[in-house]
Amino acid sequence: MKLTNRNLVTIDDVSNDEMEALFCLADDMANSLDSQYGLCQGKIMASLFFEPSTRTRLSFEAAMLRLGGRVISAVDVGATSLAKGESIADMARVVGSYADVIVIRHPWEGAARVVADYAGVPVINAGDGGHEHPTQTLCDLYTIRKQRRTLKALRIALWGDLRHGRTIHSLIYALARLGASILFCPGPGLELPEHVLRRLSTEYKGELRRCANLNQGPERELFPIDAVYITPSSPHQLAMLPDISVRVELKAGVDALYVTRLQKERQAPTVEQQELKKKYPVVDKELLKGKEFAKTLVMHPLPRVDELACEVDSDPRSMYFKQAAYGIPVRMALIAILLGTRDVAISREYNSFAQKVEHPVYKRDSGVKCCNTNCVSNQETETKYMRPEFRIVSSEPLTLRCIYCEHELHAKYVASSDWHQGKLENKKYHSANSHWARKIKPGNLIIFASEDEAQAQQFKPSSYVTR
Ligand code: CP
Repeated sequence: MKLTNRNLVTIDDVSNDEMEALFCLADDMANSLDSQYGLCQGKIMASLFFEPSTRTRLSFEAAMLRLGGRVISAVDVGATSLAKGESIADMARVVGSYADVIVIRHPWEGAARVVADYAGVPVINAGDGGHEHPTQTLCDLYTIRKQRRTLKALRIALWGDLRHGRTIHSLIYALARLGASILFCPGPGLELPEHVLRRLSTEYKGELRRCANLNQGPERELFPIDAVYITPSSPHQLAMLPDISVRVELKAGVDALYVTRLQKERQAPTVEQQELKKKYPVVDKELLKGKEFAKTLVMHPLPRVDELACEVDSDPRSMYFKQAAYGIPVRMALIAILLGTRDVAISREYNSFAQKVEHPVYKRDSGVKCCNTNCVSNQETETKYMRPEFRIVSSEPLTLRCIYCEHELHAKYVASSDWHQGKLENKKYHSANSHWARKIKPGNLIIFASEDEAQAQQFKPSSYVTR
């Protein structure tokens, strides 16, 4: 198995075993940081950061310099030709002809995938809007592995802005693949997006258990948990147990508490946001006195704002500055592997708890668009060359997942491109939930966002249209 010339756009672009091989190489690199200088001599990394960054950008650049390579960079959209209306696909083609590897951070969800589609060199997603941040997950898992000596059957609590936190989304998929139990502790209104929850329950073989009852009662016995996700590796199958047993199980301890800040840049500044800021849950010494946190690693991707008290910094359980420091050996290992200057042996130690599901693709010139306004497929500069593209992830209800940002939408009206006998009078559209709609083969499916759109394309309503 070779990792050379691959892209890392989502955490699912590397398998568990490949991740373990990368971590072994990172161990080697960490032990001899100063002896890696010849590995990438003559290679160039383009570092494109169109959102603020301290850790990711500087650790990628330092990693490349330590490998003996060189870095070209752009850190402000306004200083590039994107500001003149250039598409990111054109930018990717050009930068791909200047550099051997591209690292990109961009506020649009799915931007890294477009760059990967057009660059012709390996592309690493350093954060695309609220979607994913896979190399942060590599640093997070490397930190846990260093401390715990294993990544198997972990119990991890995720804290804060689970809705918009891209580090959370990448970490969740990796943890689910590794067979972890995950406790969700969101701030108010900041629960995981529905599409992430749906993927967890349909593709990662685990069970999602909502547990509002855990936090009721005269005294709150546990930290505030919204839901528990359990993969089949969990020894006691918590999902099968009543609330009281879940409570007892959780008191046995949490391996890591992963804290995240309120992602205020991903929300419109409103009065509600000011209120949310006041109600945002804080991790401090008092919370960490809980028995369940006695041996817990306190983690944070950083930057922190107010959600993690500075008094925790001197606590031996705090890991967040180590996570940031491990960015160097982890990213050195990643760059060297993708550029093919170091090979790694892939063992078969870690099973994956994810099912590789090949969903049919839906891609047509006209029809539905992604429902996420921040998706790259909805941006004016990109729509000139790009067609919205989806995977059909469920037929009942008919559900499409955008291939760029992974937001999901439910189709309302559908038609077949192969209408009966090719006669215009048979060119009909139907409600997506009708039994007639379910007979249409995925390859013939046409999906409309509205009846107006169907009629604009000369389709007429069938008797299977409900309003
Ligand atoms: N963790 C992380 O992505 O930090 P930066 O935004 O500073 O890169």
